[in-house]
Amino acid sequence: MKTFAASLALPLLAAAAPAMQTPEGNPSFGVMAIRSASPIHYMQMNAAGQKFWLGGQTSSYCPDLQGLDCPAGNQTVIVGSGCALDVEVPGGQQIYVDPSGALSFTQAHSASIPPGSAIGGFKYEPGKPWSHYTFNGWGASGFMACPTDDNRWQVFAAMENATVPSGNVEDCLGFSAMALTYKGPVPAWQYV
Ligand SMILES: *[C@@H]1O[C@H](CO)[C@@H](O)[C@H](O)[C@H]1NC(C)=O
Ligand SMILES: *[C@@H]1O[C@H](CO)[C@@H](O)[C@H](O)[C@H]1NC(C)=O
Repeated sequence: MKTFAASLALPLLAAAAPAMQTPEGNPSFGVMAIRSASPIHYMQMNAAGQKFWLGGQTSSYCPDLQGLDCPAGNQTVIVGSGCALDVEVPGGQQIYVDPSGALSFTQAHSASIPPGSAIGGFKYEPGKPWSHYTFNGWGASGFMACPTDDNRWQVFAAMENATVPSGNVEDCLGFSAMALTYKGPVPAWQYV
C-alpha cells in the first residue's frame, strides 16, 4: 500500500463506535475514487457480490412482484451515515469491513456479518466543494483499491495487514473517496 503508511500508527479511533450513529440530514451519495495520475482516478465505486469495486458494474436484483416498481438498480448509492446502502428491501443492507479488510455489505434479509468484522468507523464528511467518505476503524486511514485478475480494483480499508487479491498489499493504491450527492428515488431494490 502506498501513501497511508504513516497513519497506521494512529490509535484505534473508531473501532468501538456503534454502527448507525447517524448524523441525520446527510445526503445519500455515490463514491468516486480520487488518486491523480493513477488508473483508478475518477473510477466509480460499485457494489457487487457483497463487496465493493472500482470498475465493473453495480450488481442488483429486484423481485418480479406485481405492483412493485423496480428501480434501475445500476448505481451504487450509500446512505448519509456511511454504514448502509440506499435500498428499498425491508431491513436494508449494512456496510462493514470484513476480517480480511475488504469493504463489504450484508445480503438482503440477513443481518449476518462475519465475526471479527468492523461495523463502525464509517463517516460522511461534508465539505466544499467536495464531501468525502471515510473509514477509520482499526486505525485505517480511509480506503485503498487492490488490483484483481479480472481488471477491477477491489476496495479495502487502507491497512497494511489486509488480505488482498494479489497477495501483496504494496500493489494497492490508497485513494480519496469523493462522496457525490445522489438525488432521486431509491436507486436499487437490493444489491447482490
Ligand atoms: C441506469 O439506467 C437508466 C435506465 O436504463 C439510465 O437512464 C441511466 O443512464 C443508467 N445510469 C447509469 C449510471 O448507468
Ligand atoms: C489489522 O490491524 C488492525 C490494527 O492494528 C487490527 O485491529 C486488526 O485486527 C488486524 N487484522 C488482522 C486480520 O490481523
